[in-house]
Amino acid sequence: MKELISEKQIKSRVKELAKEISDKYRGKTPILIGVLNGSFIFLADLVRELTIECEVDFIKISSYEGTRSVGTVHLLKDISADITGRDIIIIEDIIDSGLTMNFLKTRLEGANPASLAITTLLFKKEVARLNFMIDFVGFEISSEYVVGYGLDLNQKKRNLKSIFRIEQ
Ligand code: IMP
Repeated sequence: MKELISEKQIKSRVKELAKEISDKYRGKTPILIGVLNGSFIFLADLVRELTIECEVDFIKISSYEGTRSVGTVHLLKDISADITGRDIIIIEDIIDSGLTMNFLKTRLEGANPASLAITTLLFKKEVARLNFMIDFVGFEISSEYVVGYGLDLNQKKRNLKSIFRIEQ
């Protein structure tokens, strides 16, 4: 494993993202929807840097086995909140192929929120197939498998403080 993004870099970028989000949603109370499991650390750090009121909810999706996407998305746990008429921000750890985000956006928009924005800590922009913009991006990375800061390899390595790439 080789360090790709240090703990210090993550901390500083999370603060910047929180400022951008706080500025954009000033006077509003968005619901941040964390995508389990990978986003739990990012979401926890992000909300503590926000200077606005917010609510938090979670959705659980599965599309990966090991380091590969299985190509289909399964909803394992739905949100609990009623998001109709609310400002929603999806909080994702990483966008790779875009499959998960396409699924999530379509599903959540079906509940008629007032607005829907997407935040991702990591974005594999070169490989992601999306026909919409990502509102808040932490870091753009190349198409390599990464672990740490919530991201796993077969459910392990989530507890690492930095983000590492797996070298073959
Ligand atoms: P997508 O549907 O291909 O965009 O993949 C999104 C999901 O796959 C993320 O929420 C992660 O759970 C997982 N994933 C994709 N790439 C990585 C990676 O490099 N490390 C760890 N998990 C990843």
